[in-house]
Amino acid sequence: MISIEQRKREVTRRRTFAIISHPDAGKTTLTEKFLLIGGAIRLAGSVKSRKSKKFATSDWMELEKQRGISVSTSVMNFEHAGYACNLLDTPGHQDFSEDTYRTLSAADCAIMLLDGAKGVEPQTIKLFEVCKLRRIPIFTFINKMDRFARDTFELLDEIEKVLGINTFPVTWPIGSGEDFRGVIHRHKREVHFFEGRNISTETHARIFNIDNAKEELFKAVGQDAFENALEGFDMVTTAGHTFDPDAFATGSLTPVFFGSAMTNFGVRAFLEEFLDMAPAPGPKMFADGSSIEPLADEFSGFVFKIQANMDPKHRDRIAFLRVVSGVYEPGKLVNHARLTREIKLTQPLQFFARERTGTDVAFAGDIVGIYDSGIFAIGDSLVERGQAPFDGIPSFAPENFASLTTNNSLKRKQLLKGLEQLCQEGTVQLFFDESRAASDPILGAVGELQFDVLLFRLQNEYNVDCQLVRLSYQIARWTNASDEDIEQARSRTDATIVKDADGHRLFLFKNDFHLNYFKGELPGIRLFSSNAQLLRAIRGFGEAPTEAN
Ligand code: G4P
Repeated sequence: MISIEQRKREVTRRRTFAIISHPDAGKTTLTEKFLLIGGAIRLAGSVKSRKSKKFATSDWMELEKQRGISVSTSVMNFEHAGYACNLLDTPGHQDFSEDTYRTLSAADCAIMLLDGAKGVEPQTIKLFEVCKLRRIPIFTFINKMDRFARDTFELLDEIEKVLGINTFPVTWPIGSGEDFRGVIHRHKREVHFFEGRNISTETHARIFNIDNAKEELFKAVGQDAFENALEGFDMVTTAGHTFDPDAFATGSLTPVFFGSAMTNFGVRAFLEEFLDMAPAPGPKMFADGSSIEPLADEFSGFVFKIQANMDPKHRDRIAFLRVVSGVYEPGKLVNHARLTREIKLTQPLQFFARERTGTDVAFAGDIVGIYDSGIFAIGDSLVERGQAPFDGIPSFAPENFASLTTNNSLKRKQLLKGLEQLCQEGTVQLFFDESRAASDPILGAVGELQFDVLLFRLQNEYNVDCQLVRLSYQIARWTNASDEDIEQARSRTDATIVKDADGHRLFLFKNDFHLNYFKGELPGIRLFSSNAQLLRAIRGFGEAPTEAN
């Protein structure tokens, strides 16, 4: 029996987070350094060998091997300074998929990683928008300071203007590239001096106190370099934003750090500061507006990801569950809210890359992988008593659309079965055109790669060979318009009207021009770019702020 004191200890030391970044900003390198510091791996280079990408974190799927990418997301656990860290790995490939969005729904905070030479890049913006929607704290780590980096003020200004978030630098760089000398640490009043460039081990920073060790500091860093940096830093500390805990907690102010993941400079200092500032698991709202605390006795959790065939030798399907409250204990009876039926919790599988080890219990904040016989769908809630389910995991507006054809009409039933199951796993979204009875479903994907995965899996798991027929839509918007308004839209615009798998209506547009025409023609109709925003508008509460276009 686990005492409430033990549970409290365990939950307060949990940190469940994800790293968001544009490809190549250094996410793998930073992750690897975190794992090294946490003792979870011993040698640098174990997460993946870059360039060759020979040892991808999860090479379970043939497609991943073929494309040299990691399609799936996995969870990495490590301990540091008394904290139990669950790092949710998001795919780092060029293409963008809904997996990433879903993973973020299980994280309590995020690290936004930027390349100091590039600043805010397109994928950073997309991922950031999801974090903003969830109102979780966001930390910024500006990487690659050992190489040429843009002016520090310019970078901060870009974060504020492009992302609409206030910045609060906790460290400040002294130079960059060849002249990178280290960072000034705001509240510690220290300079961390960057001495060497040792890629495989940690670069130990020499630490000087700004007030008591000026002489040594000038000698090591150089008086001019230090004073130049200090001038900028003083400016930002006097004229910049003050630390507002509420703004930080809801993701509208980001603490900023500078460093170099590759040379392992500033990573430990950042990790320690991050772990102290990052939130422990918090309460979560049910669909009826009530909420549950992580220390509640009752177990609750939700499925944020389903992965099929992780091990080709055993045809299996794994549901990834985020524990929200109580304790995950095998044998416990819980309600499967969607199926309104009681199920028994099974022995969980905890993941570190491909290694699976059985663990007995999991606490709020933990991610548990459980074998799924086909009863789980993305967003499913498991609750111990008769509570309502959690709000579902948002689906985001797809930007790629297609339909499927198969030459073999005998395989049609198989195809529909496969589509339905893969839609439940969240591989693609399915839409149905109301005006055309018994028409083929329209497939929607946020990222192109989702279509490749779909075709591959239909062929390999359902034995159906299909061709993809591209459709010329680029934009989808959910709506809560009345039937009367829908008829208006049908007669006055050329938007296609469809329903999603839950029966909610969307408009599909060919491009921005058509969307803008629609808005001008029917300004009273509200449009939403995720189903979470729609649900919030219908119910009048929820986690996500309404962002109607
Ligand atoms: P990603 O997961 O975000 O896509 O990025 P990844 O860590 O794979 O890093 C992308 C490239 O940037 C790698 O170089 C990596 O070594 C480099 N990099 C990461 N952090 C830093 C840093 O702090 N400073 C510098 N100078 N480079 C950094 P690569 O040439 O693609 O691979 P490799 O041959 O270096 O392994």
